[in-house]
Amino acid sequence: MNFDEYIDRNEYPTLKWSGAFLSEYFGNEEAIPMSVADMDLKAPPAVIAQLHKRVTHGIYGYAFRPDSYFNALETWYQNRHGWRIDQKHIGASPSILSAVSILINQHSSEGDGVILQPPVFFEFRTVIRSNKRKIVKNPLNLIEGRYRIDFDDLELKASDPNNKILILCNPHNPVARVWTRAELEQIAEICERHDVFVIADEIHGDFFFPPHKYTPYLNVSETAVQNGAACISPAKTFNISGMVDAITIIPHEKHRQRFHKFAHRHQIHKVNVFASVAMEATYRDGAAWLDELLLYIQGNVDLVREHLQKNNPRVSLIEPEGTFLVWLDFRELGWDAKELERFLSQKAQVALAPGYWFGREGVGFARMTIGCPRETVRSALNNLTAALRPAQAAGCDPPGTNIDN
Ligand SMILES: Cc1ncc(COP(=O)(O)O)c(C=O)c1O
Repeated sequence: MNFDEYIDRNEYPTLKWSGAFLSEYFGNEEAIPMSVADMDLKAPPAVIAQLHKRVTHGIYGYAFRPDSYFNALETWYQNRHGWRIDQKHIGASPSILSAVSILINQHSSEGDGVILQPPVFFEFRTVIRSNKRKIVKNPLNLIEGRYRIDFDDLELKASDPNNKILILCNPHNPVARVWTRAELEQIAEICERHDVFVIADEIHGDFFFPPHKYTPYLNVSETAVQNGAACISPAKTFNISGMVDAITIIPHEKHRQRFHKFAHRHQIHKVNVFASVAMEATYRDGAAWLDELLLYIQGNVDLVREHLQKNNPRVSLIEPEGTFLVWLDFRELGWDAKELERFLSQKAQVALAPGYWFGREGVGFARMTIGCPRETVRSALNNLTAALRPAQAAGCDPPGTNIDN
């Protein structure tokens, strides 16, 4: 595959690249768009071919998810992740976030607490708030360059009877941790002990870099199975997030029936003709493409690491264990959230997601989406280096020696 190919996304309206979006969130339409977590890369050729065939068929009436769709999904998870999904446990929803929202509704009441592990994907906060639940933080700890779960604090938060749910991001957006089996087991034990339901958002599960390995939460223990739900989707993996559809796995019979009932009551169980074709094609034919992509993304990570070490040692890369997102640490520069945001979008002309979007625990950091041609990453890094030159020079001066002060 030629992932180096630059494709002009402005031929069609896209959130990440649109002038309106860049202007609203970054005040700069010229900034290199690297904030939204989708990729500037074409979907696998097999997926494009299947969609093409479906389009030329010319009839787009009601669709359903055929057995071949479920077979492709189950085979993918079995072969790639060693997880045997029981077809009976599958529920559909139009997107991961709609599934998360339904699950919040069904496993808590207004005013209850939902535990989050910030810095974390900002839309979780939106969904919790729009459902009138309370955000309860179990912040991650950054220890020697690696984020870790504060299990003592999790136990404390989970033991509060007002807190009913934990939203687990596995792997974690934005810090790119791929949680280990041992960590997930510990989460399951704590949550079961205190009757806290776990919603595992595993949309980034296909992206992990050896020796790290994604472990599906529901595959860690019977405890996890009885007390949790997983939300999965090929949307990130194959860059089809604009063709929304997602899968919810709920092994517990009673919980699953409630989810199904809700989906039918609100008529959200239906499937779009193109989404079902694309999903089946990705899971059936996408493995070799993804293997290549994972190597390419790791090449982009290497570029970021080497560039920063060589040119900007005061900005450090939090070593990603997976995802196509990198979390950059600018704290040594000593800027507050707004100064860093202004520096990135106005001076460096790069539209990175500022760390505070992910909670106050993200202040001083920024997230860069590197699911794009290497040249885009290189341009962004060069912009950053050029813009940092004066700051770096200033940083070399001992305090008080700058005659401008
Ligand atoms: C962790 C995580 N969950 C969910 C989503 C959104 O998924 P969907 O569009 O299916 O709601 C994203 C998108 O960035 C994400 O990073």
